[in-house]
Amino acid sequence: MLITHDPAKAADFLRKGELVAFPTETVYGLGASIHDEAAVRAVYAAKGRPLNHPLIVHINGMQGLQRYFSKVSEHAQLLAKHFWPGPLTLVCSKSDEVPNIVTGGQKSVALRWPRHALAQHMLELLDHGVAAPSANRFGRISSTTAEHVREEFADAISCVLDGGPCAVGLESTIVDVRSEQPHILRAGSITQDMISELLKVSAEQKSESDIRVPGQLPSHYAPYTPLFVSESEHFKQTVDTIRVHYKNLVLLASSCPSSSKASDLFFKLPADPEVYAHQFYALLRKADNSKKDAIVIELPIKHGIGLAIRDRLSRAQHR
Ligand code: TXA
Ligand code: MG
Repeated sequence: MLITHDPAKAADFLRKGELVAFPTETVYGLGASIHDEAAVRAVYAAKGRPLNHPLIVHINGMQGLQRYFSKVSEHAQLLAKHFWPGPLTLVCSKSDEVPNIVTGGQKSVALRWPRHALAQHMLELLDHGVAAPSANRFGRISSTTAEHVREEFADAISCVLDGGPCAVGLESTIVDVRSEQPHILRAGSITQDMISELLKVSAEQKSESDIRVPGQLPSHYAPYTPLFVSESEHFKQTVDTIRVHYKNLVLLASSCPSSSKASDLFFKLPADPEVYAHQFYALLRKADNSKKDAIVIELPIKHGIGLAIRDRLSRAQHR
């Protein structure tokens, strides 16, 4: 696996039909040219992802909207103008140019123009979009550094474009803009309030059973170690309860509870939800790699990106 900082090298690999992991401001993506069916199939295979779970098409510039959506809705236009490039993915009916393999057979396509400079350079060197899910094995913790990608895939992929740690650290907000009322399919740093305010219509948070979105299935974003979540005010009590069944714990919290043991591992979580998000997957991975019996994590506040982190944690937790 080649780890490079050069977007031209990454673009060359994509042109040759090879898979390239690349940085975005949210998480690393595992990319293939949308017009190379074998490469797109290799993305599904490398992740262990079912073929009917659609991929996001990454573009560089507003022109991708006209090219890959069959009709650009007013909401799509407004949201793209305001939030692109950025951590927002728009879902609309696809144009004929988008191959079915990319959309898992659906008539819609998800589009995103990322804000990361290296991703933008790489995309600029290609004359079409790059299909990319998050660069992690299906159901597992997303990657926010090149090292995480290496940990997930080793030599199963040819190249990682290393753009350092992802600034946001959590996957993009996904909005379905096909109808008058926008539907949020996945929460992210661009919140329901921000979207409703811009469009002057209330955006609806879809319930998980309504849609076929793998990030919305139970047990996603999950470590191998059993994970338990807790509200701040009950953290000590939760730790004490879990200790009855699990001896050695990893605790991720704003402060270490008085009942922690010498054999526990403690990672301090920042109170600011944006900083929490930035460190979230890296800390979860570290906690998982420490091979303790269980992980207990304190939930962030119910505000801003804190809501999106809570959504991921509710799907990652042990059941
Ligand atoms: O931040 C992100 O969105 C990252 C970076 C790499 O762009 N990508 C990412 O991809 O999180 P992935 O595949 O892990 O999650 C994309 C989500 C999936 O839940 C998928 O089902 C949904 O987007 N999606 C893709 N196309 C869709 C469509 N046509 N309709 C509804 N959902 C769609
Ligand atoms: Mg994912």
